[in-house]
Amino acid sequence: MTKNLFLGIDISTTGAKALLMDATGAVVTTATTALPLSTPKPLWSEQDPHDWWNGIVKSIRQALQQADATGDDVTAIGLTGQMHGLTLLDKDGNVLRPAILWNDQRTGAQCDEIRARVGKARFIQITGNDALTGFTAPKILWVRENEPEIYARGAHILLPKDYVRYKLTGDYAADKADSAGTILFDVKARDWSPEVLEKLEIPREWLPKTYEGPEVTGVISAEAAALTGLKAGTPVVGGGGDQAAGAVGVGAVEVGIVGLVLGTSGVVFASTDAPYIEKDGLLHAFCHAVPGAWHLMGVMLSAAGSLQWHRDTLAPGVSFDDLLAPAADIPAGAEGLFFLPYLTGERTPYPDPLARAGFIGLTLRHALPHLTRAVLEGVAFGLRDSMELVKGAGLGEIKQIRVSGGGAKSPLWRQILADVIGSELVTVNTTEGGAFGAALLAAVGAGVWKTVPEACRATIKVVSATAPQPAQVKVYNDLYPLYRGLYPALKPTFDAVG
Ligand code: XUL
Repeated sequence: MTKNLFLGIDISTTGAKALLMDATGAVVTTATTALPLSTPKPLWSEQDPHDWWNGIVKSIRQALQQADATGDDVTAIGLTGQMHGLTLLDKDGNVLRPAILWNDQRTGAQCDEIRARVGKARFIQITGNDALTGFTAPKILWVRENEPEIYARGAHILLPKDYVRYKLTGDYAADKADSAGTILFDVKARDWSPEVLEKLEIPREWLPKTYEGPEVTGVISAEAAALTGLKAGTPVVGGGGDQAAGAVGVGAVEVGIVGLVLGTSGVVFASTDAPYIEKDGLLHAFCHAVPGAWHLMGVMLSAAGSLQWHRDTLAPGVSFDDLLAPAADIPAGAEGLFFLPYLTGERTPYPDPLARAGFIGLTLRHALPHLTRAVLEGVAFGLRDSMELVKGAGLGEIKQIRVSGGGAKSPLWRQILADVIGSELVTVNTTEGGAFGAALLAAVGAGVWKTVPEACRATIKVVSATAPQPAQVKVYNDLYPLYRGLYPALKPTFDAVG
């Protein structure tokens, strides 16, 4: 008898991860191969797609070995990964240049060009989003304008995990959630937008066929089977971009259950049962990995990334536990100290690659614990900005907020977040994020559960709750307008600094 396992593959910015889950939803094992990142120029961020493939081949082999399993034991496979990255291939499927990633900020001019070609309001109406540097479409225009000899050889555009799918199955295919993040997608129609493609002069035939998250897009090829140890013919489902698959992984798949991710970036994720588009495009509106569902999302670029920077720069070598412990004794508001968390520019609520971070209000009295507290609070205020936009979007009552990501392991940070947002936060039993979500989507595709919400209800349970403390909520409510005033006041300086 086979073990009936489901493989979730996650091509994140930092690692290629393989997760094996059994048919009850229990995680059997995971294996991750670290991935290098290259920043050849300021604002640039690139990876070599061959590293994704070589990394995941190694991780799949390792995961199978750890689980004492063979390819015969794997029933279906789901994919997730970093969104928005441009992988450009020639007609034979060869990589033409390093992939330009989601956190690359070189395309400000191309975003302006997209708004000019399509019209900003019309563009938001079709794609659900403003043209932002993080997304894929401006990266395509950048290559066309700056590397015309490479663009001339282009024949296929794929997102990072879909390049790995291509190597696994030989098919040019993608899921609808990740495809929406290219901003070449008609988010309501759940397919490529002929109008946007035509106005941006991007050939339709360069783009892959798109599928719903649990839908089978192809099967493992004989060549990939020989390299990975998987069985030829094993079905591969659509999966989803990391945020949509991550939401599946914590059960944020129904209206009213909001996901809050405190990872390197910070995300507020709300499922919607209709393509809700926010008129200024301040929230991202994408398709969900749940068939026929959508989501709104606010993305803050440096959330736990801000704490990482703070530790590495001001307290190198100190453990996060030791860094955070004294910050618990500092009063809410850090005695007049604010931290603006825009270390890598920002997306929500200020789509501004030139936004900068800072400590504001420093006095002689402030020591490292104050600075730490201010960082935790500044990130919480930034997430409240996205939460306020989601609350204002008219989606109905928020019934539960599920917090996840590395930063959510800190009880102090969870408490500060609950107090700043003024709502209870819960954590769930699953901690493997997108890779687990991708494995669940594979299991739904294979018929273990009929729907994605059913799979989530069967496998994901709430394990802790953090209630807001009324006195602290009041302090933060009084401070929030001051925080909100900082970015507009400093914006002219950010622009002048460039
Ligand atoms: C989402 C986003 C990030 C990347 C990398 O819009 O840019 O979540 O997918 O994780």
